[in-house]
Amino acid sequence: MKTLVIASHPKLGESRIHRAWLATLRGRCDANLTVNDLYGRYPDERIDIRREQALLGENDRVVFEFPIYWYSSPPLLKKWFDEVLEYGWAYGQGGHALEGKEFGIAISTFTPETGYRHDGSVGHTIEELTWPFEATVRRVGGIFLPPFVLNGVAHVSDGELDASAAAYLRYLGAPRGGKSSGGQGGTPKAIRSLAGVE
Ligand SMILES: Cc1cc2nc3c(=O)[nH]c(=O)nc-3n(C[C@H](O)[C@H](O)[C@H](O)COP(=O)(O)O)c2cc1C
Repeated sequence: MKTLVIASHPKLGESRIHRAWLATLRGRCDANLTVNDLYGRYPDERIDIRREQALLGENDRVVFEFPIYWYSSPPLLKKWFDEVLEYGWAYGQGGHALEGKEFGIAISTFTPETGYRHDGSVGHTIEELTWPFEATVRRVGGIFLPPFVLNGVAHVSDGELDASAAAYLRYLGAPRGGKSSGGQGGTPKAIRSLAGVE
């Protein structure tokens, strides 16, 4: 299985979590794992649509990696969706390029996991907040994987960060366990990055 990580962090130089995650991934990049750093690749935010579509075509699984910004993604990833998922290519008449591919997201949040509950400070779960990604994947005929989530980044120790990077690598290569986006289920339940780490 060939996996493509599409990373979107506007300030990777100031990042702790995604810089560490991407360093781990880059150490493992080979013919089966490609990292596409959108802000690094497109500092002027002019996306090469044909290049992006070719990358998608070459891979079986695509994971969008980003820090949560205002309960959504940083803006270049939204632009990427708007421009790369063209009518007649990704959807609509003749638009079948992404059918059957697997799509996941790997995200980090400042707010702890307890905030992402109906009775928490955010008042919504991660699954609820990420439904636009699930709906997009469904629209293009893809299969949405459970989101991979690291919550409460301010309280993550260096050892926990290493553990989360290792868990992220496993997530990237894990056999599909999530529900098909074609069903009625909505976003499959998120995988906690530090589940099981004391
Ligand atoms: C503009 C901006 C908006 C943010 N919005 C949220 C948010 O809505 N919810 C949240 O939990 N964290 C939010 N954060 C915190 C980031 O998600 C957090 O700093 C990031 O996941 C840490 O990853 P990094 O060390 O790789 O930057 C925001 C941060 C910034 C800069």
